[in-house]
Amino acid sequence: MNQEAPNYLILHSNRSSVILEWCATEAPLWRYWGARLLDGTTPPTRLRATRPTPPASLEFDQPLSIAPTFGNGWFGQSALLAHRDGQHFTQSWNNCAVTREKQNLCITLTDTIAKIRLVINMTLASATDMLEINSCLYNDGTDADEKLSIQWLAAATLPLPATSQRVNSYVGQWASEFQIQTDTLSRSIWRRENIRGRTSHDCFPAATVAISAQQNGPLYGAHLAWSGNHSQTIEWQHDGQYQWQLGEWLAPGEVQLQSGQYLQSPTVFAAFAPDGADSLAHCYHATLRALMPWRDGVIPPRPVHLNTWEAVYFDHNEADLMALATAAADVGVERFVLDDGWFHARNNDTAGLGDWWADKKKYPQGLAPLAHHVIAKGMSFGLWVEPEMVNPDSELFRAHPDWAFQISGRPIVTGRNQLVLDLTNETVENYLFDCLSALLTTLPISYLKWDMNRDITHAGTRHAGATHGRKESAAYSAYVHALYRLLARIRAAFPKLEIESCASGGGRIDYAILRYTHRVWVSDCNDALARLTIQQAALQWLPPEIIGSHVGTAPAHTTGRSQSLAFRAAVALAGHFGLEMDVRKLSSTERLELAEWIRLYRSLRDTLHQAQVWRGDAGDGIVWQVHSNSQKKDAAYILCIYRIRPTMQRWSPSITLAMLDDQCRYVIENLTPSQDKVYEFDKTPVDGAWLKQSGLPLPRMTAESALIIRLIAENHTATKLSN
Ligand code: DGJ
Repeated sequence: MNQEAPNYLILHSNRSSVILEWCATEAPLWRYWGARLLDGTTPPTRLRATRPTPPASLEFDQPLSIAPTFGNGWFGQSALLAHRDGQHFTQSWNNCAVTREKQNLCITLTDTIAKIRLVINMTLASATDMLEINSCLYNDGTDADEKLSIQWLAAATLPLPATSQRVNSYVGQWASEFQIQTDTLSRSIWRRENIRGRTSHDCFPAATVAISAQQNGPLYGAHLAWSGNHSQTIEWQHDGQYQWQLGEWLAPGEVQLQSGQYLQSPTVFAAFAPDGADSLAHCYHATLRALMPWRDGVIPPRPVHLNTWEAVYFDHNEADLMALATAAADVGVERFVLDDGWFHARNNDTAGLGDWWADKKKYPQGLAPLAHHVIAKGMSFGLWVEPEMVNPDSELFRAHPDWAFQISGRPIVTGRNQLVLDLTNETVENYLFDCLSALLTTLPISYLKWDMNRDITHAGTRHAGATHGRKESAAYSAYVHALYRLLARIRAAFPKLEIESCASGGGRIDYAILRYTHRVWVSDCNDALARLTIQQAALQWLPPEIIGSHVGTAPAHTTGRSQSLAFRAAVALAGHFGLEMDVRKLSSTERLELAEWIRLYRSLRDTLHQAQVWRGDAGDGIVWQVHSNSQKKDAAYILCIYRIRPTMQRWSPSITLAMLDDQCRYVIENLTPSQDKVYEFDKTPVDGAWLKQSGLPLPRMTAESALIIRLIAENHTATKLSN
């Protein structure tokens, strides 16, 4: 073992620090990831000096490193499981070289016996505290060596302190995404795995770990930016700490590297926040905002949508949709999105996918008349597509049955009556690119709702590029890369286009798909009560302006429950607002009320969006969120208060607003349109310190009602509500 003086690799950000212990002949050891240390702080001794050999243990001590490997005295989960046709089933790094550029460490680990090299890139962003890590494994063997089969490559191995207590991850199903699952950490391994071929409704690829029971105590978060199969584990170690690994889940035989080839892992976005879930969310929001593909880096105001799905489903008729568009424009809609049902023979979900031209019966002149009508009404035109899929009942499948994923000899398994196209086949990719290009060049489409409505099962490809010389191989991973390629091609060819990522609601959401897309449809559930839970959980990772949030009908199509228009609108207000209904079916009073909510959204969106968000539960059925955009001159705070069940108390609890400035006094104004505006706050400004500590007293509210409140520091003049 190396006895030289320890050498430390140290990264500091605003509120966190990372320390690795480095020596030239092994992978750097994790010494620290947590709250910001003072500059110059180092561990007192090298780690092994603090760890005398315990009974019944190897004389060689292998603490947690940034890439622990099986077979060399590491008994936890390995960061790499690989072999060469059964040889070199264990790896051990015998060389470590590091280059540093500002906040980035590029660490190259070599195993000269197994002839592999792992390059780990680790960047700690100074301002956002985001620790980005990814790993790239190279096969440095020669042609004479067996190819390298990889079963598991952790994108990152992170340390968690011994005080780690609980992990929050996400479970769910269609229409109930982002349900928080809390597990207590123990000596049993904690594992969440998803093999549905997309991020899935069940298992958003992220988690947070709390290291104290305190409400706003320190919290770690990690997210894997990958739109396919994935796995994450948290595993107790004998020094009481935990290791946390995240990476892509690989099917047997899926990745086999020939000499000179490499496997690049997805990126893990990890962060430590000293003071709770909202401050952790702020790191994630800032990071994602910088990653997203806005033109010239500027996000335009998020337009009010009307999406036609729940208004007409497959029942399209040109005149009817024009009338719907007119009614939508009249209430203030700014973007009209024509959902499923517009293309060839698409009368229900059993046929048509793959045939991306307008259905002649429904649209005799194509989509142009409708699209131009929408534009004439002052709205932009968006179109639903599901390019990755094919129905067996389609012209495309009849002509090219071999374009769909399948596994020789196995039955074809459909989901929503459809199959997944093998995007790894360049001919398929080109077909889809051409179909989409034809639509985008012949019609004034500025927005695509890109849907994906089934899990991927039989991802067997026979396409030569993906099989590594075999007759057939698993292509779950290659599929996701091919999808990114297709999206990148479309974006390059149509740079003004915005794209929404939808997969039966929130089945494909992650920071990799969001490098190509601009909005997520977080759920098909428009029941405002259920949606509020989904949205507030999604806000942990996603900023409000990209969370599509629509006012649905009452009763809600997915749950059968009804809420008032005001409550539904108040829940939608907090995200990227839209309508999922046939506005023509509203009474004239309801239309006026809806128009008022739309006006409110349009006047507040520059504060609601690009904002910091805080969420809270005041007790007695009151939940709330505050948005404030520090770029705005008036420094306003918008407080959305939701009573989600009847009160059990005579007087409502107060809401303590810790984000306010105790040096300021705040003017409080109730902006809630419609009948829920039953309460006016006293015009006298209130001390920030009081609102922070004692809180804002609330009026009595009926169940499933909401208040939208604006707080402005006294010295700022209130901006007038305007469109
Ligand atoms: C699933 C989506 O989540 C819905 O919004 C809608 O677009 C349907 N697909 C259309 O088939």
